[in-house]
Amino acid sequence: MKYKLYEEWKALIEEHLLDFLPDVDMNSLSLKESMEYSLETGGKRVRPVLLLAACHFCGGEVISALPYACALEYIHTYSLIHDDLPAMDNDDLRRGKPTNHKVFGEDMAILAGDGLLNSAYEVMNKDMLLYLDQPFLLNQRVRAAYEISKGAGCRGMIAGQVADVEIEGKICSKELLDYIHLNKTAALLVAAVRAGAYLGGSNRQKLDDLTEYAECIGLAFQIADDLLDLFGDEAVVGKKLGVDQKLKKATFPALWGVENSREKLRELTDRAVSIMIDYLEDGEFFVDLARKLAVRIK
Ligand code: IPE
Ligand code: IPE
Ligand code: MG
Ligand code: MG
Ligand code: MG
Repeated sequence: MKYKLYEEWKALIEEHLLDFLPDVDMNSLSLKESMEYSLETGGKRVRPVLLLAACHFCGGEVISALPYACALEYIHTYSLIHDDLPAMDNDDLRRGKPTNHKVFGEDMAILAGDGLLNSAYEVMNKDMLLYLDQPFLLNQRVRAAYEISKGAGCRGMIAGQVADVEIEGKICSKELLDYIHLNKTAALLVAAVRAGAYLGGSNRQKLDDLTEYAECIGLAFQIADDLLDLFGDEAVVGKKLGVDQKLKKATFPALWGVENSREKLRELTDRAVSIMIDYLEDGEFFVDLARKLAVRIK
């Protein structure tokens, strides 16, 4: 299997990211501008890259998975716009630029988030309509869309965000901390690999292995995010740092301490690596990615 670099997957996504946005009418040009502003460069594109890589790993055709990969990035981007609003984390820097509401106002930022979320479902449903007379391919797409909507939904990312804001300033148990991380962050990474796997026609073993892998790197991803909030370089991270302490967020470093958090991050990375290393060359991308994410600086 041809090995593709992270940067190649990312470039493919960025080339097509705006292609799937629905047209708007003349009265909504500001909406489109606001949506595109937040989608533009600066994001790492981890979720869509994972989706495409999982599809490829399972033997699927990557180009036909692009609408789902882009839809997932729309959902992730909406979640960031809303996460940054004054009513949530009240952030004014994102992806190295002023946050959406700082530029377009809170009303338009809320609507841009709504617009991106709905565009995601529009894109996926529109793609499914093309396969109505090909039940096998339609089945894969319905499953992929279901994984994405479940991961993003009320028992996934949104559930994590609810717990995250409700626990601010309160004492958080270690179980609830895991619940927050698994939902607000890992759920979308799990959705990415599972959607990709379905689109690639995965067998059960690969689906299960990718799922466990994504749970590990998903948890690790948020631990790294929490550590970057403490020790990162604002100019590189592209977000205001130190906000978790200010908002009294329940984070891994706050509950477990910095050294234990780093140790946990290493353990989760090792577990993720051990799952995919058995696939030898075919699993190389995932092994590499887990290792890179563990030492990421943005
Ligand atoms: C930020 O996600 C929100 C978290 C779940 C920690 P990313 O770190 O993937 O942000 P971008 O997409 O690269 O900007
Ligand atoms: C947000 O977590 C996760 C989302 C679902 C958006 P954070 O609040 O820690 O993300 P950042 O640090 O603002 O990117
Ligand atoms: Mg938040
Ligand atoms: Mg935040
Ligand atoms: Mg954070």
